[in-house]
Amino acid sequence: MKKQNIFLLSLTAILSSAIILTSCGGSSTEGAKTDSVATAPAASPNGVGEFTHVELSATLNEDMITKGKGIFELKCSACHKLTDAKLVGPGWAGVTKRRTPEWIMNMTTNTEAMLNQDPEAQKLLELCLVRMPNQGLNGEDARNVVEFMRKNDGQ
Ligand code: HEC
Repeated sequence: MKKQNIFLLSLTAILSSAIILTSCGGSSTEGAKTDSVATAPAASPNGVGEFTHVELSATLNEDMITKGKGIFELKCSACHKLTDAKLVGPGWAGVTKRRTPEWIMNMTTNTEAMLNQDPEAQKLLELCLVRMPNQGLNGEDARNVVEFMRKNDGQ
């Protein structure tokens, strides 16, 4: 083979590998980064939904507790106990220690998406084998329920 042909062959090889690399979206390191994000999404302690930051006051708000209790009795007590005993769903004792207020509020307002996407909600579904139905709470209702849960946990 002539020297010139060998040169052309290697040039073609270099060029085509460059094309393959760029067609995968840039340098190989960038490709690797994108892959790891796509295959292992980080589980958020906030869960899935609109609540990403909830401020809790140091002292409990009695008015919110009363409203939260009313919602519990009307819409939640058929499936949840205030102890750690399971009914249809898990007992609420200690729930404010296990979960962030954001997670609880997303679970109670964005229930379908939480059960479809949040790893912790999915673990509960595997245990309980019943999908919690969305109870139609608005953000204020959900926040009042969290206050009632804090009271139940002796905070
Ligand atoms: C028909 C039964 C049912 C009703 C009614 C219900 N839940 Fe649930 N809930 C469940 C089940 C079952 C789970 C566990 C996840 C799953 O399997 O869907 C759950 C899980 C939860 C969790 C997570 C508990 C933990 O230990 O992390 C919270 C918080 C919650 N529910 C809040 C509420 C609130 C607030 C209401 C009322 C507004 C309510 N639920 C009404 C069945 C119910």
